[in-house]
Amino acid sequence: MKRVVYHRYGGPEVMRFEEFALPAPGAGEVQVAIKAAALNAFDWKVRQGMMKLVLNRRFPKAMGSDLSGIVVAVGPGVADFTAGDAVFGSVDVKRQGAFAEGVVAKAAELIRKPASVSFVQAAALTIPGLTAAVAILDRAKAAPGRRILIYGAIGAVGAAAIQIAQTQGADIVAVGSANSLRQIADRGVRAYAYGDAALAQEPAFDAVFDTVGTLVVGKGLRMLRRGGVFIDINPTPARAARGFITGRYRLAFATMGSKHLPLIASLAEQGLLTVAIAQEAPLHQAIDLIAAAERGTGPRGKTVFLT
Ligand SMILES: NC(=O)c1ccc[n+]([C@@H]2O[C@H](COP(=O)([O-])OP(=O)(O)OC[C@H]3O[C@@H](n4cnc5c(N)ncnc54)[C@H](OP(=O)(O)O)[C@@H]3O)[C@@H](O)[C@H]2O)c1
Repeated sequence: MKRVVYHRYGGPEVMRFEEFALPAPGAGEVQVAIKAAALNAFDWKVRQGMMKLVLNRRFPKAMGSDLSGIVVAVGPGVADFTAGDAVFGSVDVKRQGAFAEGVVAKAAELIRKPASVSFVQAAALTIPGLTAAVAILDRAKAAPGRRILIYGAIGAVGAAAIQIAQTQGADIVAVGSANSLRQIADRGVRAYAYGDAALAQEPAFDAVFDTVGTLVVGKGLRMLRRGGVFIDINPTPARAARGFITGRYRLAFATMGSKHLPLIASLAEQGLLTVAIAQEAPLHQAIDLIAAAERGTGPRGKTVFLT
């Protein structure tokens, strides 16, 4: 079997497409033949070394988190799946390995793929969907009448956040680049371009969710009502330091969201949660396409690798 690996942390040049032997699944694990795997910025940030303090020092390390595929074998204690099940989910950061023909994942990280959801959509949904669910449901507490600003509304997380907030009946205002405003407005959401001064006329918000990490924290905090929260998924030490002293700054991570996997599957099945796919490509092209995305020269939207 083939997979994308790296033998040391670094830039795109450290990636290799190598043969490996897929191990048998251990207790609580599932062996999956991968059909589709979706690229997230997280994947190259891990390869660059962002998580090295929490990862072991063994190399090579496999790349890739979000996947869909078919269960080939289940380990002891796995009751939720049997061979032949179509599944999707995200392999945790300590093992990764979704950019491959097969992977061994924890059963708890996977869920059955609804038949009406394609393997490509299912693979693309997990990290964006879980991150948005944590932000919109757990942090913003979306509900009818609650006002939520989604800053960076056209990316995978931003678009998922709009869709999830809409299912809760929240009052959504979106901010995005000028050339994406029509697409955002097509979702039935009031949209402003980055930097549009007219945004200041909007009444205060119960939650401001910055999906891109470019909204100055102090500015986001000033848009909040009393009791409102600023939600960040791209924290830096400076942003967190500025935010936490206020008591109104909250973080959201995909890893906090596994309890929302059934919701993500259900919304996708109902057609209420989709991700914009920019390109589908065979797995053997993954290294070139990851490098392009990382350099900012890839297409705008999700890249999915097919086996
Ligand atoms: N904390 C966590 O667990 C977590 C989880 C997921 C992501 N993140 C981080 O959050 C950030 C956003 O993630 P993401 O997955 O939403 O990134 P993404 O889909 O690549 O979106 C990033 C930007 O690319 C442009 N773009 C993406 N899709 C587009 C489309 N269909 N049409 C037009 N433009 C599009 C938009 O730029 P403009 O806004 O300039 O138009 C968008 O804001 C990344 O830095 C990522 O690392 C964190």
